[in-house]
Amino acid sequence: MMRSVLTGTGSALPVKRVSNAELAERVDTTDQWIVERTGIRFRHIAGPDETTATLAADASRAAIAAAGLAASDIDLIVLATATPDQTFPATATKVQAMLGIDDCVAFDVAAVCSGFLYAVQVADAMLRTGVHARALVIGAETFSRILDWEDRTTCVLFGDGAGAVVLEARDTDTRGILATKLHADGRHNDLLYVDGGPSTTGTVGKLRMKGREVFRHAVVNLAAVMGESLALAGLTIADVDWVVPHQANARILDATARKLGLAPERVVVTVDRHANTSAASVPLALDVAVRDGRIKQGDLVVLEAMGGGFTWGAAVIRI
Ligand code: UT7
Repeated sequence: MMRSVLTGTGSALPVKRVSNAELAERVDTTDQWIVERTGIRFRHIAGPDETTATLAADASRAAIAAAGLAASDIDLIVLATATPDQTFPATATKVQAMLGIDDCVAFDVAAVCSGFLYAVQVADAMLRTGVHARALVIGAETFSRILDWEDRTTCVLFGDGAGAVVLEARDTDTRGILATKLHADGRHNDLLYVDGGPSTTGTVGKLRMKGREVFRHAVVNLAAVMGESLALAGLTIADVDWVVPHQANARILDATARKLGLAPERVVVTVDRHANTSAASVPLALDVAVRDGRIKQGDLVVLEAMGGGFTWGAAVIRI
């Protein structure tokens, strides 16, 4: 059976790391409030020379090397971001140029924090048609550029970064993406959005969120979509070795695991050091757990995310 097999992961973070105590010098907050309510201790913030594309290119180089490939082997780039370098062209094409790939298919996907899951399903479908052989799937963001640094209810929650995976089309019935499931419900635009855009205000805008409302939907939707994706693969939560969730809030991770009856030690957590990096958070956490040896070939891994839209989704992968 033709499947998309994950053969390499990579990630990149901005050089500058910012603690809660440093943020408390800028806005009315405390390290204690941030840790207790979110689990976040640090986030990385892009400097003037670091952009979504540069972080994405660094993460991609690491993923391509881990897969044992050359950049020229890649024939498809799908990049998930809500913070592109430019309104157009797609940041994926900028990354393509940075990697020195002469010709391939390259485009962006916008589904905010669920963007990487959307990109994975799109790339998986394109690989299984046989038209493409080796895809780079990237989640990359510089949310620091769309934060209102006067708003303590949002600016402490987010960070910048990028993660990437290489997916290769292979005829196999053991490894690969076993199932994906995506959802969107556009009625919830006003709970998590950016108050600008080329077609409305003509400005980039700033992130606005009703956190408590998002939290409530997140736990319900994430538990449900993980169940749906596992059912599509003919598996149950008892078969899962690792869950790599979107890293928005440690309390969301705990509540979702409890709802599913999943042991907390099966959940990869990086929100403490990366904060919420939107589309980058899942591939960043995946790369951390692959590189520290927790996730190994043969493991059954579930990826999940939920974000603005609302959009949400999950993917079941045999590594
Ligand atoms: O990635 C997309 C998905 N996004 C998410 O999943 C985010 C989901 N939401 C959350 O993670 C949480 O709702 C937050 C972390 C955003 C907020 O936590 P909460 O426990 O829901 O707090 P809250 O919004 O109910 O606020 C509680 C209090 C408020 O004060 P009052 O009204 O009770 O006096 C806030 O003004 O905490 C206050 N507060 C803060 N205090 C100190 C809000 N932000 C801060 C802050 N420092 N940074």
